[in-house]
Amino acid sequence: MENQEPRRRPNVVIVPGPFQGHISPMLDLGTVLHSKGFGVIFAHTVFNAPDPSNHPDFIFLPLPDNLADHQILPGDIIALVTILNKNCEEPLKKGLSEIMNRLETENQVVCIIYDMLMYFCESVAKDLKLCCMIFRPSSASAGLAYLSLSRLQAEGYIPPKGSALDDLVPGLPLLRFKDIPTADMGTLQDAIELTVNICNTRTSSAIICNTVHHLEPEEIVQFQHIYPLQYFPIGPLHILAPTSSSSLLEPDTDCLTWLDNQAPRSVIYVSIGSLAILQKEELAEMAWGLASSNQPFLWVVRSDAVPESEWADLIPEGFLETVGERGCIVKWAPQKDVLEHNAVGGFWSHCGWNSTLESISAGVPMICWPCFSDQKVNSRYLSHVWKVGLELDHKLERGVIKESIRRLMVDNEGEKIRVRANDLKQKMKISVSEGGLSYASLNNLVDFILSF
Ligand code: UDX
Repeated sequence: MENQEPRRRPNVVIVPGPFQGHISPMLDLGTVLHSKGFGVIFAHTVFNAPDPSNHPDFIFLPLPDNLADHQILPGDIIALVTILNKNCEEPLKKGLSEIMNRLETENQVVCIIYDMLMYFCESVAKDLKLCCMIFRPSSASAGLAYLSLSRLQAEGYIPPKGSALDDLVPGLPLLRFKDIPTADMGTLQDAIELTVNICNTRTSSAIICNTVHHLEPEEIVQFQHIYPLQYFPIGPLHILAPTSSSSLLEPDTDCLTWLDNQAPRSVIYVSIGSLAILQKEELAEMAWGLASSNQPFLWVVRSDAVPESEWADLIPEGFLETVGERGCIVKWAPQKDVLEHNAVGGFWSHCGWNSTLESISAGVPMICWPCFSDQKVNSRYLSHVWKVGLELDHKLERGVIKESIRRLMVDNEGEKIRVRANDLKQKMKISVSEGGLSYASLNNLVDFILSF
């Protein structure tokens, strides 16, 4: 047999932020780049570590993050990110240097692609003389909203006062003040400081964004004007990398069997993502709203959905008897499979960006109930710009919930939304197919990395 020349496989280093909504798209990015001929070194915090067995082709580099238990409090994301940026720099430099010493010259590391939250990576790249790029797991519209915070504060618009919450924001004409991601995560000042760090591109040479051109064409252009860097909108990544599993929690797949027994498009799927938390009273209102809607429902109630409460105590007394077989409750669902299931006709969501892209890609219309950060911007776009969702613009109350579910799943209004959702789904498909803009952008990204 003829001796084959070993193929060159340059390595890219990928460093995700330590949250489900950041790890998933970055694992997908790794899968896509691997399919394009790159080796992938996935450097992640020990906190919320992904399962390496799902990606046997990657090299995993765990970064000891030295987090104390009290630093992993739910809801204190800004503090957590700040600590990680201090604690992970040395471990990344050391771990990566060791790996680089072992790699053949032709397979050397060509760049670090780091999550916008993990901005310490830029100085590691500089020390190791590597190029680096920033990955943004959220939309360009949300990025613009964050970038406006200090201007709006300096002009005295935020924090907004009284009735101003419903006014449109100067410079961001599609958003109301209540859509601006501000003080729900720490103080306004904390959010601004974090934004300054996230938005400072330092010596990075490009921005990769999990977004789709036709969803926010003008916002993408505005974003590119602000940052004179290469910009690659290559979403939705979960479609480009359909086979990779990225869940940090074990999904309960029995709910797919339950869905098999439901009528087409009859089920409302309910999830508030991986981070948002509820009051026990809010959860009870959700339960009774679902019960009185009379629609079948699949409801994700995470074990940490209500802090300091036992999961078994969360479901109100008498609720399971009332709904019987009409309801299915799980602690974590195989969400992408759920949204693609024929029985699912609506998604009541917190509007995290991944959930937004997954729902749009599956053509599933939404009930938008944003909790914090970019979710409010996404909710506004879903309900008022793309018009594929209904805004649940109230404090959780069973009567309002029942009415929203009926409007989406039963009324004529829902039918029109469903038609638009299906139209958007087709556009997403086109975008990742040959000739589509995300497809082209991904190929440009590959050429750009190979040029280092
Ligand atoms: C957060 C922010 O809300 C989001 O807007 C930001 O861009 C990333 O960080 P998160 O709250 O986790 O993310 O929401 P989302 O972005 O929607 O990501 C959740 C992921 O978990 C999705 O990919 C979803 O498919 C998955 N998921 C959720 C499951 O697999 N099973 C579940 O039961 C619930």
